[in-house]
Amino acid sequence: MHDERHGAKQPERFDPARAARLDDPARFAYLPPAEVLALIDAPPGACVVDFGTGTGTYAIAIARLRPDLEIIALDEQPEMLGLLGAKLVTETAPNVKPVSNEALATLHRRADRVLAVNVLHELGDAALHDLGALMKPAGRALFIDWNAEVERPVGPPRDHVYNASEARLRLEQGDFRVTDEWQFAYHYALMAERKR
Ligand SMILES: C[S@@+](CC[C@H](N)C(=O)[O-])C[C@H]1O[C@@H](n2cnc3c(N)ncnc32)[C@H](O)[C@@H]1O
Repeated sequence: MHDERHGAKQPERFDPARAARLDDPARFAYLPPAEVLALIDAPPGACVVDFGTGTGTYAIAIARLRPDLEIIALDEQPEMLGLLGAKLVTETAPNVKPVSNEALATLHRRADRVLAVNVLHELGDAALHDLGALMKPAGRALFIDWNAEVERPVGPPRDHVYNASEARLRLEQGDFRVTDEWQFAYHYALMAERKR
């Protein structure tokens, strides 16, 4: 395990060679962007950070559904941001701003909402703390990830991810309090606020 990823269920860094999987249109059938957007419940003009945006699949889809939102698409890997940048040349989404983790300090307490899709199982304790630090005091974070309890033809092995109860425990042992929980076909979704 890499020290900086201590606490992660699946501590290996996402392999950019697998990035094409993130662009599989089938994803929108089992995790529809409109339903994700409804759960985010972002106020008009809100700042939404897509933490671990990858190729920006959900950042772009949500930005198009809600042009009023400022979507900060954040990823730690330059290769992923390069792929997102290439997409933004042809896919119009002017309200998506790709940023690297170097921007974390400037985004401190700026987010009305944080979205993390298929990311929680990769986050070490330090990264999870960084994510929480982006939230405004009244902000909320929506964690959607593969559900370890569900047999599925896609996604990482079940022992690399959490079930909803384990994910809730992980968040609540850290800086978060979970306020809502939902299930998709292959994913759980947990809404969290920062502990006061
Ligand atoms: C499985 S991919 C999911 C990408 C995207 N959320 C999606 O659903 O299409 C996980 C992404 O999270 C990024 N990531 C993992 N840990 C991160 C961290 N601490 N900070 C920023 N990005 C991170 C990885 O580089 C990778 O691009």
